[in-house]
Order: sequence, then structure tokens, then C-alpha cells
Amino acid sequence: MTSTLNARPWFKDAVVYQIYPRSFQDSNGDGIGDLRGILSRLDYLARLGVDVLWLSPIFASPNDDNGYDISDYRAIMAEFGTMADFDELLAAAHQRGLKIMLDLVVNHSSDEHPWFVEARDHPDSEKRDYYIWKPPVNGDMPTHWQAFFGGPVWQLDEASGEYYLHLFSVKQPDLNWENPKLRAEVYDLMRFWLDKGIDGFRMDVINLISKDQAYPDAEPITGTALTSGYPYFMNGPRVHEFLQEMNREVLSHYDLMTVGETPGASVDDAVRYSDPQRGELDMVFQFEHVGLGSGERGKWSNLPWTLPELKSILSRWQTGLHNRGWNSLYWDNHDQPRAVSRFGNDSPEFRVPSAKMLATLLHFMQGTPYIYQGEEFGMTNVRFERVDQYDDLETLGAERELRELHGWSEERIMASIHAMSRDNARTPVQWDASPNAGFTSGKPWLEINPNYPNINAEAAEADLDSVWHHYKHLIALRKSLDVVRDGTYELLDAEHPSIYAYLRSDGHTKLLIVAHFSAKAGQYRIPAEFVGGEVLSNNYSSLQLTEKLNLEPYQAVVIRAK
Ligand code: GLC
Ligand code: CA
Repeated sequence: MTSTLNARPWFKDAVVYQIYPRSFQDSNGDGIGDLRGILSRLDYLARLGVDVLWLSPIFASPNDDNGYDISDYRAIMAEFGTMADFDELLAAAHQRGLKIMLDLVVNHSSDEHPWFVEARDHPDSEKRDYYIWKPPVNGDMPTHWQAFFGGPVWQLDEASGEYYLHLFSVKQPDLNWENPKLRAEVYDLMRFWLDKGIDGFRMDVINLISKDQAYPDAEPITGTALTSGYPYFMNGPRVHEFLQEMNREVLSHYDLMTVGETPGASVDDAVRYSDPQRGELDMVFQFEHVGLGSGERGKWSNLPWTLPELKSILSRWQTGLHNRGWNSLYWDNHDQPRAVSRFGNDSPEFRVPSAKMLATLLHFMQGTPYIYQGEEFGMTNVRFERVDQYDDLETLGAERELRELHGWSEERIMASIHAMSRDNARTPVQWDASPNAGFTSGKPWLEINPNYPNINAEAAEADLDSVWHHYKHLIALRKSLDVVRDGTYELLDAEHPSIYAYLRSDGHTKLLIVAHFSAKAGQYRIPAEFVGGEVLSNNYSSLQLTEKLNLEPYQAVVIRAK
């Protein structure tokens, strides 16, 4: 049985919960989350009602990028535990009906992977070609492409006089997918985990694996000596061929779900990745809605955005993939700021209703929803005072560049970091009001958000009006309504500045979803067929169902037509 041949693949009914293991739960007091910590929280996750746990990388790694730099694809990171711990976790998850999806990071490895060590130290070895090496061009780098974490993508290896390519940090050399032996190695390590019984892969920046072999230079990026190589490595020339090969060789032989991380993918790209007829992936993560507010300095520009822009993006994805592919639905992950702080309102007054509103809006769309740890009870961004309280290499690199290269004031830099740093998502999960939020008995690797006495999982589970119970309700509700999985999507009032309203319909059932993006009370005229309908979800205790709906701040309702 293969996921792509199933008439109704299970990924379409699944809700995924993402765990960033380092920050989830520490079991041994070293301040670092680990596999036994996850094991101890499985009952909590089962109570929430999610189906699949995606674990960010758990493999051996020097942690330059917290596990997204892998030095052994078949070993567990020592800080996270042992293979026996993993086997136990997998079995215990399966016992509770929870599936496990692992993070496949094969655009690059760590520079401490034995392949790279051999490639660098022995240029004649066949491992050399597992990576991408180029001689200097006119005494300079082969191109001036900018790396995702700042600086150029090329690093000179003094000994051989050649450069190697790293789209991310210098410690994350890109693997050479042009080499069939390297591809075979990747397929092999995938089988290793699938044969253990895992249920899926999230594929890290998988649309970057095929580079334009001409390595052309590109448009200069203003204010830097570098260029953007995006057109030459995003959705590159052979990426679909490689994924189809991977599907033939590996994926089609297992019952699993796959989601590709694809920055810069358009709706049409996503159709190519996720159309089941093509035999590539089940779905991809698109980046357009989380790219709102990006400017000259990328996300750090943190420009204002409007609700009509957000509606237009999400609606284009909803209609564009309907019957042609499949959407993944997310506000949050380990690379994004906290959703309630970014798209909602994290003030004490509005945190709870706005977090519930965002959840409602997303969970009634077509696609597979992803919940990022802590999102289910409304964790917020953190505001560390000093740069040295941050850990993330992207944040620290940006701080340096914005200061040294672009002359930003410290105040402006800190405001940007508070809004956009990846560490907003990475502060440890706030389990309860005890010291260190119940995350660790030791010193946490990254400071805990000081708001944990008020915002924590235990308090949320005990309070029936909490964000947590709202998520639990939504997860159960969407599973009871075929229209959420199968129905069409229609946006209403595209230009309305503070209401996001849409219809879902499958010929039997018609739903209206209304979300009020405002800190003030408001009104909204709904289609007549919903007056006298049934209120399926509401983040406030009452609603008068009249043609003109009176809406509270951040109110979100779902109504089924009568
Ligand atoms: C992806 C990951 C991110 C990581 C990068 C490099 O974008 O989500 O956390 O830094 O790839 O692996
Ligand atoms: Ca630990």
C-alpha cells in the first residue's frame, strides 16, 4: 500500500503536532529536552487529540543549527538519548495511536559528517563529489550568492584551493544531488528509519537540492556585496526528477506521509510537488503568508501588512491546490515567531480570544493542520533584553550584519529580534507554574519566557475556556465534518479590512467561518442562509445569530447553514 495510491490517504484526516525536542521536555536535569521527556508527555498529546508527531532533527549533530546539521543520520543525538529510547518512544506512541514523522535534512549535512571529513581531507576520494566544490573564478568566489544565515555561500578550503557550497552556515555543506551514489545513500538512510516503523518525513528545504549547474551570478542585493541566487537553486532544474526517483525507490514502498519544506514555492510549484499523479510528495510548506512584512532586509525589515493581503495569499493557496494537490496549514513552527504575537494580539486582554481566532480560521481550511508546541495553549514571543540571551545562529548573524553593515541602531535591531527571532518559538515549553516551568530541574539551555506562571499547559488544561480546549474541540470537530477535508473554499469580502470570512461547501454541508481581526467590537452581515443555522464553534460564550452579527474583539465563529 502506498500513500499516493490510497483513495483517501490518512494524511488528509491527520492533525500534526511539531516537537522541537531541545525545548520540549527535559528528563534528566541537563537543561536540554530529550526523547524520554517526549515519552513522558505522550498522554498529554493523546489527550489533545493530534495524530502525528513531527520531531525536529533527533540525529547526531554538533548543533551549529540545533540538529539541522547532521553528522550521523543513523544515530541519535547523545543529548537526546539513545536508539533504545527512540525505539521505546516509537512503540509507546504507536500504542496510543500517535504516528511519528522524522525530519529529513538532506540538502546539506554537517561539516563533521564523515562524508565531508573524507571529502575535505582526501580530495581524491569518491566522497569528494558528495559535496559541491568549485575552483576560484578570476581569483574570486564562483558566485556572490548570499547564504541564508548571512555572508557568502562559498567557503574556501585552503588545502585544496577550492570552495565548497553552503546555502546555510559554513558548517552545513550542501550535498551534491547530481551524484547518483549520494542519492542512493540518502534513500538508504530513509529506508533505515522507515524499516523501524516511522510514519513519515518532513523534508528540510527539499526544493533546494537541485542547483543550476551553470552557477550563474545574479541580482545584487542592495547594501551588500552579495547577490540572490534564489532563481538558481530554488525549485531547480532536476528537483522533480530527484523527488520522483525518491518516490519510486523509497516512498512508494511504505505507508507514510511526506511534507516538503519549500521556501519560494508558488502554487504551481506546489501542484507539481503534491499532485498525487506525479508521485512526489503529499504536500509542501509554502512561505507566502509568513513572508508578509518582509522587505529589503528580509524578515528583519518587519514591515506592516494588511488583512486583505493575508486573505489573498491564503485564499490563492486554498483554491489553487483544490483537487490538484494538498495544502499544509500552519501559523507557527520552530523558525517563526509565535503566531498569537504576530498575527493575533498577545496582550493579557486579547491573547486568549485571538489565539483561538487564529486556530479557528486555519483549522477549517482544506489541508493538513500543523500545531507547533506551545501554540495549543497560546505561548507568546519572548523579549530578552540582551543579544547574548539569544542562541539562534540566524538571529546572532543578523544582529551583527544589521549593526555592522547596515548601521541599524540597537533599539531598532532589538525591536526586530523581538518580533521575528526564531528563538521566540524555541524558548522551552511552559508546562506548569513550578520553577523552570516544569521543563527542567536544571538550568534550561535557553531562558524560559517569564510569563510562564500565567501561561502554561497545566493551567490551560484545567480551564475549560482555555486556548487548549479550543484546539482540542477544533481537532475533533474537523474530523467529524467531511466538508472540511473535501469541500470547496470561497472567500467573502476580500477587501474588508478586519473580517476574514469564507465558505466551505461540498454539496451537502455549507459552513461559514468568520474571524474578526480587531481589538474593537464590530459588525458583519452574513449570508441569509446562515441565519438560523447551527453554531459549531465560537470563541466567546454567546452569539446572536442574526443577519448582522455583532462581533466581540477577535471573535471567530463557525456556522453550519440550516
Ligand atoms: C530549514 C529549517 C531551519 C534550518 C534550515 C537549515 O529551514 O526549518 O530550522 O535552519 O532549514 O537546515
Ligand atoms: Ca536532557
